[in-house]
Formats: sequence, C-alpha cells, structure tokens
Amino acid sequence: MNVRTQDGSAGDVDYGTITSGHSPFRRPDTRIARFIAEALGEARTVLNVGAGAGSYENAAREVTAVEPSRSMRARRPARLTRAVDAVAEELPFADGEFDGAMTLFSVHQWSDVTRGLREMRRVTRGPVVVLTCAPELVRDFWLYEYAPEVLDTEALRHPRVEDIAAALGGTGAVHTVPIPLDCTDGFNEAYYGRPEMLLDPAARQACSAWSFVDDGVRQRFDENLRRDLASGAWDDRHGHLRTQSTYEGSLVLVRATPDPA
Ligand SMILES: C[S@@+](CC[C@H](N)C(=O)[O-])C[C@H]1O[C@@H](n2cnc3c(N)ncnc32)[C@H](O)[C@@H]1O
Repeated sequence: MNVRTQDGSAGDVDYGTITSGHSPFRRPDTRIARFIAEALGEARTVLNVGAGAGSYENAAREVTAVEPSRSMRARRPARLTRAVDAVAEELPFADGEFDGAMTLFSVHQWSDVTRGLREMRRVTRGPVVVLTCAPELVRDFWLYEYAPEVLDTEALRHPRVEDIAAALGGTGAVHTVPIPLDCTDGFNEAYYGRPEMLLDPAARQACSAWSFVDDGVRQRFDENLRRDLASGAWDDRHGHLRTQSTYEGSLVLVRATPDPA
C-alpha cells in the first residue's frame, strides 16, 4: 500500500518539503542519455515511471510519464508531456500498452519494488530499463571515508540488482554505466574527480541521501574534506581521479526483455 504525502509523494522522500531531484545540479548528462537510448533500442512508445521533472526523456521517442509528486510534476518543462499522477505499484495502463519502459534513479524510493517492476513488465511489450545503484558497490566510493552515514543510507535504500532482474523476469542484462568526469547529473559519484563540488551544500542537497542524515554528519564531512584537500591528503589517496575520464562505480543499468511466448 502506498502512503502518499500532501504533495502526492509516494516514496521515501517528500518532494513537497525537500528540493533534491529538481536542482540545477541535476541536469541530465548526454553520455548517460545515450546509454539509456541504446537500451531502449527501437521502442517508439516509452513509459517513464518516477519521471520527476523529465530528465532523460529525450532518450526516448514518444513518452508517457508517471509521477506521483505534485511539485515534481509542476517542474516539468512545457515542451514535455504532462505526467500522469500514479504510482509504479499500480499503473493505470493496459497490458502490453508500451513498446518500452524506463525508470531512472527512482526504484530505491518505492514502497514495493517487486510490485512496481511487475507492473512495468505487465504494461510493456519490449525492454524495461532500470537505471539505479548496485547497493553492494555504493560504499566503495571515497565519500565513504568522509560521510559513511550517507552511503550506508544509500546502500540500504537501493534494491539488489538480482531482485530487480528477478522481478522483471525474461532475459536480463546488467551494465555498469561509466560516469564521465564532467558529468552534469550531480549524484554523489558524479563528483568522483571533483571533490570540491561536494563542499557546496546545494550540490549535496541535490542527492536525496543527504536529507536522511543530520547536521552533525554534514558538518563533520565538510570539516574533514576541507582539511584533507588543504593538506593534500585527499590528493595523495585519490588525486588520480581528477584526470580519469570515466569512473565505474555503483551506477548500473538493468535491461530486461520478455521471453517469447
Ligand atoms: C530522484 S527522483 C528521479 C526523477 C527522474 N527519474 C530523474 O532521473 O531525474 C525519483 C522520483 O521517483 C518518484 N517516485 C517515488 N516513489 C514512487 C513510486 N512508488 N511510484 C512512482 N514514482 C515514484 C519520486 O516522486 C521522484 O520524482
């Protein structure tokens, strides 16, 4: 059962009260968009579940967006279609209505991931594409040395990739998504080679995991990272990342197609 806030938010974040997910720090990245477009292949009609303000919808041809939060729906640019007010767990569409479907940076917020993914499978004839983080890889990022609470939160929120693939059934594949050094979509790992960016509270706020930790965690993170950047300790350990063109971290794309009947 989905519990929805006054704003309509259905996941573990109330977008009526926090600003993450529709920040200037979260602009869709063209290289990641290409990855998504390739996974959708020839699909013409595409369902986007947990569509938010519509990031990456240009990766698909004809989009139907589903978004439960009123404030997120209101942030969709006029050039995009209006989003349907619904939740993943109960999609108001017929069986096999869409050629393809995608859900991006969203499944970790759903109250019943298996049910939501089965619904996506039900309404989709072709590929279902899920962009998410593999929870067992989340803590491998250097940020864990400075804000373990944030990444512990992320690791707990994200469903296991095996469970996603099992819920979708059919033939599945999991691809690591290379994150470009100048990635414009500011999730935590996007700053792997630009640690100074995470000293900006607005950049941190654009990742919802930071809204689950208290001020003490944020303050300790800020002090320790500033100290290590000033002393060169961060660069001694991770400086090679400043020039590494891509980073393979926890970001993965799960793609599943139905087996022939
Ligand atoms: C981090 S935002 C990502 C938005 C967009 N996909 C993007 O990549 O920018 C997660 C979105 O999932 C939506 N969401 C949360 N729970 C949901 C649910 N049960 N069903 C559908 N959408 C949900 C939120 O309202 C939010 O807009």
